[in-house]
Formats: sequence, C-alpha cells, structure tokens
Amino acid sequence: ATKKRVFSGIQPTNNIHLGNYLGAIRNWVETQDQYDNVFCIVDLHAITLPIDPKDLHNNTRKLAALYLACGLDAAHCKVFVQSHVHQHAELSWILNCFTPMGWLNRMTQFKTKAGDDMETVSAGLYCYPVLMAGDILLYQTDLVPVGDDQRQHVELTRDLAQRFNSLYNKPVFTIPKADIRAAGARVMSLEDPTKKMSKSDPNPNAYITLLDDPKTIKKKIGRATTDSERLVTFDPARPGITNLLTIYQALTGQSNQEIEADFAGKGYGDFKAALTERLVETLSPIQQRYHELINDMPTLEAILKQGADEVRPMAEHTVQEVKKAIGL
Ligand code: ADP
Ligand code: NA
Repeated sequence: ATKKRVFSGIQPTNNIHLGNYLGAIRNWVETQDQYDNVFCIVDLHAITLPIDPKDLHNNTRKLAALYLACGLDAAHCKVFVQSHVHQHAELSWILNCFTPMGWLNRMTQFKTKAGDDMETVSAGLYCYPVLMAGDILLYQTDLVPVGDDQRQHVELTRDLAQRFNSLYNKPVFTIPKADIRAAGARVMSLEDPTKKMSKSDPNPNAYITLLDDPKTIKKKIGRATTDSERLVTFDPARPGITNLLTIYQALTGQSNQEIEADFAGKGYGDFKAALTERLVETLSPIQQRYHELINDMPTLEAILKQGADEVRPMAEHTVQEVKKAIGL
C-alpha cells in the first residue's frame, strides 16, 4: 500500500517557539516513518507582513536547521523552501480566482493580524489562506498536521478543493484532513494565558524559543503568569497554571492525574523548577544539533536544493491537471 501524504509548513519569521514545536514539528517527527512527508519553509507567507531581507534569508536557513535538529530525517521527508518551487505562487493565483471574497472575510487570523489597519495592510495577508490551500493541494495531501489555530485554514482548503473538483467534475485535488493532536495543539502565552503563544508577540518573555538557553528558560518560566491560589491542578478558571501544566504534560506524556498527584502539597515554585528542567532536557539536544547544522551551510543548502528538486515534479503535475481542467 502506498503511504499517505503529509504536508505542513512554518513561516520563517522570528525564532520558532514551543507552540510551534509541540503543536507541529514534534508531531511531524513522531510519525514521519508512517507517511510520505513534505515539509516546507513557507517564505512566501513570511512576506505578507513587512520583513527585512537579511532576516528573511537567515530565518529561512535557521528554520531549516531547526526542522532537522528537531529530528526530521531527510530519508523520510522532503524538506524545502516554498519560493524554490514556483508552482506555489502559480497555483495560488489560480486558486484566488476560485475563492469567494466572503470566505476570506470570515478568516479570523486575518482580522487578528491586520487589526484596524485595513488601509495599508497587504492584499497578500488577506489572500494568505489561499496560498496555504495551494501549498497543501499541490502535493495531493491527505493529512495536514498543524496546531489548533490552523483549523479554519485547513477547512477553507477542503472547501476550495471540493468546489474546484465539483466545478470541473473531476477529482483534480485530493481533499485533505487536518491532523490536530490533543496534546500541545494550543500552547498559550506565558504572559497572557488567554492568548496563544505566538512568534509575533512583541514581548519575548511571552514565549520560549527553541534556542533559549537554560538561564533564559528558567527566567521566563519563573515569571510566567499564574495566580494566587498556589494549587498545582488543571483548572480552566486558572489559565496560567493550566497552560504550564499542559506544556508539562505534552513534554512528559503523563496523565493529568499523575501530574497532579506528583505535585500534591507542593507549590508553584517546585512545579516551575520541574517544568524548567523538562524544557532544558528537551531543548538542549535540539540546540546542539542545530549548531552543528547551521555551521555547515553548504550541506544545509544542498538538503534544501534536493528537497525542492524532489517535490517539483509532483507540484508541476498538479498544476498541469489544474490548467487542463480550466482550459489554460
Ligand atoms: P506563528 O503563529 O507563531 O507565527 P506559524 O503561523 O508559522 O506560527 O505556525 C506554524 C505551526 O505552528 C502551525 O502548525 C501552527 O498551528 C503551530 N502553532 C503556532 N502557534 C502555536 C501555539 N501557540 N500552540 C500550538 N501550535 C501552534
Ligand atoms: Na499561526
């Protein structure tokens, strides 16, 4: 039997954080040998908001190194940079012409990212979900492992694929499914646990990056918002401690009950120390591999070139089928 195709990606904006790791990359790594995997560094998405050219270039390489450092194996995965495969931009334009404005008007991420700035924010930010749909559909993807915040975008991708297929009465696109795991799908900000942890947060203490050193992790966890009750229990009414416990659970794989039992009678200080230790234990080996990879740029560039060369024929095949259906 042929393996199911998996596709996912992350934007090379700032340093990636614990939410990106627990909600996305870690899951990619865990199941990579069961699937036919395509993992992209989505640099075309990163230009939907202003970004410095040097930062964009460097962040793209850093993110590629982090994918591999987290455990993606080039033997099981095709890892590449979105802009190296021009079919992403090409399919995106075509799909724009099949996307009702009303569908995009309902996308909550656009509203969050654009804020009140409807006058100068780019049309690219508005069309971002269509680019993402194209990314997924180009590879006839079955499964899209993402965090919970991407649920609406995958839903739009499915709607768009179904609309296109039924318009031309042909199965041009595979209808993908979101793969959102229970643990780690929604890691919250350490500062304001009612908001999701995000790369674009202006306060760097609100997130743990994968490259934070032990001292920084200790500091950030130490000052993470909790409450005055000092009970180490999962409780939706106390989102700060619950978020930290959820992170701890995602790292240890223990059940809520086991964790609560371990910390019964202990305070937030003890728990935060244990969480810090788990985080350092998880991130240290990743950081070690990251530094090896980032210091060997020719090898990294070669892996990215090979990834793009491997996926390009699949992408081109889909674009040809799309053009044929439309009459282009
Ligand atoms: P960001 O939103 O931080 O800019 P991206 O949009 O590039 O990150 O998202 C990359 C992946 O990380 C997606 O699969 C997304 O769902 C996941 N992700 C982002 N933030 C979180 C979070 N706080 N918790 C869990 N997963 C997240
Ligand atoms: Na996101």
